[in-house]
Parts: sequence; structure tokens; C-alpha cells
Amino acid sequence: MESTTNPATKSTVQLQSEALFPLAWREGVYQAIYRRRDIRRFRPDPIPPAILARLLDAAHHAPSVGFMQPWTFLVISEQQTRLRVQDLFERERLAASHFFDEPEKSQYLSLKLAGILDAPLNLCVTCDPMRAGPTVLGRNSIPETDLYSTCCAIENFWLAARAEGLGVGWVSILKLPQLRAILGIPPHVIPVAYLCVGYPEAFSEQPELEQVGWRARLPLASVIAYERWGQTEHPAWIPLHTLLASPSTTIQTSGSITPLLAVAARIQPLDTHAMQAARTRQANLTKPQGSLGLLEEVSIQLAGITRKPCPRFSNKAVIILAADHGVATEGVSAYPQAVTAQMVQNFLAGRAAINVLARQAGARVVVADVGVCSDLPTHPQLLRKKIGYGTRSMTQGAAMSQQDALTAIMVGIEIVQNEVQRGLDLLAIGEMGIGNTTAASAIVAALTGRPVTEVTGRGTGIDEAGWKRKVACIEQALQLNRPNAADPLDVVAKVGGYEIAGLVGVILGAASSQVPVIIDGFIASTAALIVTELCPQVRSYLIASHSSVEIGHQVVLERMELRPLLNLNLRLGEGTGAVLAMHLLDNAVTLLSDMATFEEAGVAKQVAIS
Ligand SMILES: Cc1cc2nc3c(=O)[nH]c(=O)nc-3n(C[C@H](O)[C@H](O)[C@H](O)COP(=O)(O)O)c2cc1C
Repeated sequence: MESTTNPATKSTVQLQSEALFPLAWREGVYQAIYRRRDIRRFRPDPIPPAILARLLDAAHHAPSVGFMQPWTFLVISEQQTRLRVQDLFERERLAASHFFDEPEKSQYLSLKLAGILDAPLNLCVTCDPMRAGPTVLGRNSIPETDLYSTCCAIENFWLAARAEGLGVGWVSILKLPQLRAILGIPPHVIPVAYLCVGYPEAFSEQPELEQVGWRARLPLASVIAYERWGQTEHPAWIPLHTLLASPSTTIQTSGSITPLLAVAARIQPLDTHAMQAARTRQANLTKPQGSLGLLEEVSIQLAGITRKPCPRFSNKAVIILAADHGVATEGVSAYPQAVTAQMVQNFLAGRAAINVLARQAGARVVVADVGVCSDLPTHPQLLRKKIGYGTRSMTQGAAMSQQDALTAIMVGIEIVQNEVQRGLDLLAIGEMGIGNTTAASAIVAALTGRPVTEVTGRGTGIDEAGWKRKVACIEQALQLNRPNAADPLDVVAKVGGYEIAGLVGVILGAASSQVPVIIDGFIASTAALIVTELCPQVRSYLIASHSSVEIGHQVVLERMELRPLLNLNLRLGEGTGAVLAMHLLDNAVTLLSDMATFEEAGVAKQVAIS
């Protein structure tokens, strides 16, 4: 039995979840980073002393070479001092303007580049190279590391200030000897930063210099090289190139793509040792080699995913995400939108098909509202993760913003990570959302370039006229929104749904925790397609449960090169096919571990004839 106290015996999943911050902490760190700005316009309100103390303490917790802590935080409030610094700044600002030609010169002079007098407080952060004596551990080769350490303290201060709602503006247009003289700083001490601190008039989305057209942020991919300086071509093992190259760069600066990248980066290739062990055992079991067909293949895959030569599943769940679709009001479904909410209640009451099948398979049912268009009554089993009250109809514009798509993905990651913390070892995914075959067909058409008629089915069972309407709606939506096939996030935002985007996160989160993901029918598989387009490594974590009646499903499975285990003419969704496949996976791994080998059974093995 595994010990929970001895780190040497902790499972990878345990170690990972302990190392991770809870989602809210993590998001907070990223938010402070993305929402920090250089501030030059301040309100006069004073800074509460307790907050200032926290900020200085955060700065003081920065890393420093040899732990030398070379910084001093010189807190300046006196008006007289600030007037002298302002005067120094003005002279330098004018002097620097001569380095620019028109029209930059005039633009430079029109910029507000400091808030020395407006801010209630100024702070000079200095570096004392002698702080730890002449010999500092680690500084010998690069003497400037004491300055670098001081910059780390400044950044800590800047980020903590942002989290407290305070702005910081760095003023570097100052001559150091004069600044030293004004502040009485000894000659050997370096004034690294002169900061203006206070409550800002506003935190803008973009850097001010970007807003006024001075300079734009470089694309992330343009500042990354692989293995050698200047080598920008990504190696095959990097799953991130699509994300880095994606035109969603605008979101990268405004919010949450980085946590998503962090999750994607944790997805490992399957464990080849465990797979080899499983393969060898399969070859020695008392049966002709390969005679258990797909069950053999899947058992080897499951060994690779779980990193166990003989995996077993004792903690199964089906995660069902529910959401509504604006397009449902355009007559593309045989059922009214209200059915989504009603079915969620049915899941919670334990009376739907998925509940029956999940009980049979020994899987718990996890239900989340990620975008149902009405308020559902509270229920202890309902995860309330609503991102919006249904999407906008894709025929009127983008179904959701890219930020909402990212939020839905992060919600999916959070939901599955909670389940992983509860011990989840086998996952089925399902969905509920009237109108979502329309969204899935639109996504598949956009990503594969196939004609809409080839990927659009009858969903819940619409008639010929309804099908034609559905095809027309999708064609109109694709025409209007022009989703970018090279950018799966753009596609899911423009013509997808909250539950589909959420499932993208569920799949990513499960794969990053080495949990096998059994995908259900057309909609769940479409979410999987988005994931594999973003991050191809995820494919090896997927098991296709069944082949749906929906014609687009075949296209999706072929594109992912996945072979379904079952073909039962299912078209219900909810995760029903995926949960049915759990029995087969249990059978596959039990055969692997419990069948006798030829040696154990004393049965002669057929000698291969070459
Ligand atoms: C070392 C350093 C010195 C800076 N000096 C000045 C300055 O003298 N005046 C100014 O307006 N901004 C200054 N800035 C702010 C940058 O212009 C600003 O950080 C950049 O435009 C990015 O904007 P953001 O901080 O809002 O993301 C400085 C920033 C750094 C890191």
C-alpha cells in the first residue's frame, strides 16, 4: 500500500497535485503578471502603511545571488525632494528628445513619462555591491548579478503592488550622480530604480507605449529559440508550436493562455517501458498472439498512459458538461432549448441513461453547468461553473469571445483536476446541450475543410427540412465568422459551445495527469479533435468508445486516426457510449493481468514459423 507521508513512495499524481498551487492562487499570479502596467498618472490617495509594508516585504523576498540581498528601499514622501527629482527628470527628458527625429521627437515630448509629483510616494531601490562583503557566492563570474538580483526585488514589488490595486511607474530618465546627491546615496551604491507608487487613474489593457503606437509587443514565438541561438524551427517534441504561432496572441497578453500552455506542456509521451512490459506479457498469455484484437492493443495503450505494466481502474468517473447554444433557437434541433436544463436535473436525480450505465460501470457522474441558459436550482452534486447563459447564435456573430473560450477550457481543467485529486484513474467524457451537433458540425467543417453537408447529421432527429436549415445555418455562420482552421481556439470560440470548449480543458487536464480519456460520440470527439489539433500528443491518451450514427463522427475519428471499440448505432451523447466502453477497458486490463502465461500454465507456446 502506498504511504502518504514518505515522498519516496508518492505517486506522480500525488506529487504533481501537491506541487501545484490551487487554481485560484495560480490564476492570481498570472493575473498580476498580465495586468501589471507602468503607471504615470496617479490619484493623490495615500497608501495605507500596512499595504506598503506588505509590498516591501514581498520585494525583500526576491531571489538574490549568494542570498546577498543587496537592496535598500529608500521611501520618499517629502515634497522638496520630489521637486528636485522632478527637475532632474525634466532636464533629462528634454536632453533625450534631441536623439529623436520628427515626428518621433514631438510624440516623445507629448508622452507623460513620470508621475513623480502626482504619486503619493516615491521609492528609490538601490543596490549595494558590498552588502555581503567582497566575495559573494555565485557572483564571481558575472559581477552584475547583484544588479540583476535588485531587479528581481523591483519586479516583486511591482507585481505585489498590482495585486493590491496599486500602480508603479519606473523613472529611468534621471542622471545617477545627481540623483545620488539629492538622496544622499554613497558613491559605491547604485540607484537601480526610481519608482512612483500610488493608486492609478486606470490600469490599461496594453502598455501605454503600445497604445500610442510607439512600439508593439513582439509575437511570443519570435522571442523563442530551440536548442541554439537563432534556431526558431520547433522540434517535433514541442507540442506548443501551434499555440505559439496561433493568432490568439492578443489573448496571450490579456489573460489566461499561459496556464493553458503550462497544462499542455505537462503532457508526456506514453511510457514505453510499461508498454513494452505489457506487450511482452500479451505475447506470452495463453492465446494466439493478437487474438484478442483491439482489447490487446488498448491494454498496451493503457499501460503506457498509466505508466503501469498491469493497470487496474478503481476510481472511474464520467464528466458531463452542459450548456446551451444560441443557434438552437433557429430550428436546428428537434427539441426546445429548455430540455438542456431539464436533462441536467434528470442527471442529478440519477434517472438518465448515463446514470444507469455509470452505476453499472462503477463510475461516478460529475455534472457541471458551464453555460445553461437558465438558472438551475442548487444541488449538492451540481458544479456551478456557468460562463454565460448560452452562447450567441453563430449565425449572428462569434458564439463567444476568445476569452470566454479560454475560461471554459480552464474550467474544464479545474473540474478534472479536482477529480484527479479524488483519485480518478479512468475518465469518460460526455455533454448535454440542445443544438450542440450544429456547433460540432460547424467546428468539424471549419477544421477539416469538408463540405458542411458531409459532416452534418440529424442530431436529435430532425426532418429533411430541419436538416437543410441546419446546413444553411452552419454555412452562414462559417461565411460570417470565418473561423481560422489553423487556430483551433478561434474555431471553438466562433462556432463552438461552452461545453465543447470545457471538454477541451477536461481532456487536456486528464492527459496532463496521465488519466486515460474515453471519448463519447460526435460532440465529445469534436472536443477531442480540437485538443489534438492544438496538442497532438494528447491523441495517445484517447480511447474512442464507439462509432456514432452522426455522419460527422466518422470524419472526426478518421482525422484523429482513432478506431472505435463499439458500433451500437448510438446517438444519445451524455457520455453513454464512453461509459459502456469502460467495461471493455476493465476486461482488457484484467485479461492482461489475470490470464496465465504459457509458462505459468505449463502450455506449450506455438513456435513461430518464419
Ligand atoms: C528599467 C525600466 C525603465 C523604465 N523607464 C521608464 C521611464 O523613464 N519612463 C517611462 O514612462 N516608462 C519607463 N519604463 C516603463 C516602460 O516604458 C514600460 O514598462 C513598457 O512600456 C511596458 O509597459 P508596461 O510596463 O505597462 O507593460 C521603464 C521600464 C523599465 C523596465
